[in-house]
Amino acid sequence: MLQIVVIIACGALIAYLARLIKPYVSAQIARSKGSLPGGPPSYPIIGTLGIDDDEPWALMTKWNNLYGKDGMFTFFLGPQLQVVITDAELVRTLLKDPRLDGRPDTNLKRIFSSHALAFSEGTVWKDIRRFEIMALKDFGRGSGSKNLLEEYCQQAATDLVADVQEEAARGAFSTRSAILKCVANSIATTLCSTALKSDDPRFARLTDNVNVVFTEGTTPNSPLNVFPWLTAIPPFRQQQANVVSRITETLQMMQEVLDEHRANFDPDNVRDFMDAYLKEQTRHVDEGSASSFTDRQLLFMSIEMYFAGLDATLATLQWGMLLLSSNPRVLAKCQEEIDRVLGSTVIPQYTERHLLPYCEAMMNEVSRIGTVDPFGLPHRCLEDTPILNYVIPKDATVIVNYHGIHMSEKLWKDPHTFRPERFLDDQGKFQANPNNLPFATGRRMCSGDNFAKMIVFISMVSLIQRFNFRRVDTKPWTEIKRINGVGVHPDEFMLTATVR
Ligand code: HEM
Repeated sequence: MLQIVVIIACGALIAYLARLIKPYVSAQIARSKGSLPGGPPSYPIIGTLGIDDDEPWALMTKWNNLYGKDGMFTFFLGPQLQVVITDAELVRTLLKDPRLDGRPDTNLKRIFSSHALAFSEGTVWKDIRRFEIMALKDFGRGSGSKNLLEEYCQQAATDLVADVQEEAARGAFSTRSAILKCVANSIATTLCSTALKSDDPRFARLTDNVNVVFTEGTTPNSPLNVFPWLTAIPPFRQQQANVVSRITETLQMMQEVLDEHRANFDPDNVRDFMDAYLKEQTRHVDEGSASSFTDRQLLFMSIEMYFAGLDATLATLQWGMLLLSSNPRVLAKCQEEIDRVLGSTVIPQYTERHLLPYCEAMMNEVSRIGTVDPFGLPHRCLEDTPILNYVIPKDATVIVNYHGIHMSEKLWKDPHTFRPERFLDDQGKFQANPNNLPFATGRRMCSGDNFAKMIVFISMVSLIQRFNFRRVDTKPWTEIKRINGVGVHPDEFMLTATVR
């Protein structure tokens, strides 16, 4: 009997190891035939060594320069094949292809049990993506007389101006906490009107939970992504238990808010994202159709708004403050435009951004330089996908090196110079550049891009309108370290703000 158990256990172990080694062997054969791009030395099961959690974008760009002759190279995270693309045109082509619509099986995806937009696939993903994009256009209310979403962002920006004025009166300060409050309140009001704003007792715990969930054992380089069984072994077991309990607690918080919403729900008066979701859910129930719109999905989508939106938008605004307070020439040009078009008291509207082309160009330049999501989110190849002379195999992970694209000497003249003019045409009109991809591109590009741009635009213009900003230290901004967290932030910097 014991012998049979041992034989079965050995058989299972051999099958498991063979499954882990297979992608490595297949990739090595494909690399040697030239049907997969090359890459740094890698080993079976353990993968490629020396991956840097501090500045991974620098390593990816270095490997691209060494191995990526067509703007693509490959490496291994544990046993999983990773294909990295640093060519903007290839990225635009590939991410339009439905075969790249998948998401790899990561620890975070398992914790979310494939819920939320970022981790779902197939019909559910299509349904909830269509809904979220529609809901973030003023909750799908169409072009009514007032745009609630814009109103919420304007209110948060007005509070931001007051907070900055208060902090500035005490001397040099960091804008981080005032901006965090502004972004969190823009997201909270959009998601659920008055609940979960910065004065809600649940707010601090919510942002802390988001930080823990998105950094503990869930970063791209974590071994838990590729070896799920590690979650049963210390110290990973405790780490995983902590993350799961934080998610459970956050789901409970969202459930409370949802219950409050359901109790006051009026389909003819949609106040926010949750109301819009409840309306969509009711429509599906009335039609008797199978629905992707479950309560559990809404709870995870609500958490996702914080994880996908909070840190990236905060980081973008922090880059904006760093760059403007280090570049008086650009700040003065923005102020001249705002004074001429809006004057000193009119609250900016995102829908009228075409009237402020220099400011819009400046924000595009901030997003390019900041590249707060340097690799976007990873994609999973759903079936073998030919590209150039290569074939990306089914289940390979595809990563885009947006940082490499945004800092490419081939695509941008002086990429390390902060120059908004590169986004203006000869007549001074704003001109988008297809190689600037802060929100990614293609079928899975950021679904909150317009919402994020609205928060950034209204907040930045409001601040520039009211204050002169100056950094207090003389270190050039290019020497401020990029800190790798949920998003990439500039390291702490202090500035003064004087009322204009
Ligand atoms: C400046 C702020 C932001 C930046 C730079 C940013 C950037 C990105 C990037 C690069 C992706 C990966 C796309 C891909 O997989 O190819 C993404 C995905 C996503 N973003 Fe954003 N984002 C921002 C703000 C927001 C906000 C405010 C929200 C929500 C309201 C949001 C919701 C999402 C969602 C749900 C996804 C997953 C889309 C999908 O898988 O279909 N983002 N974002």
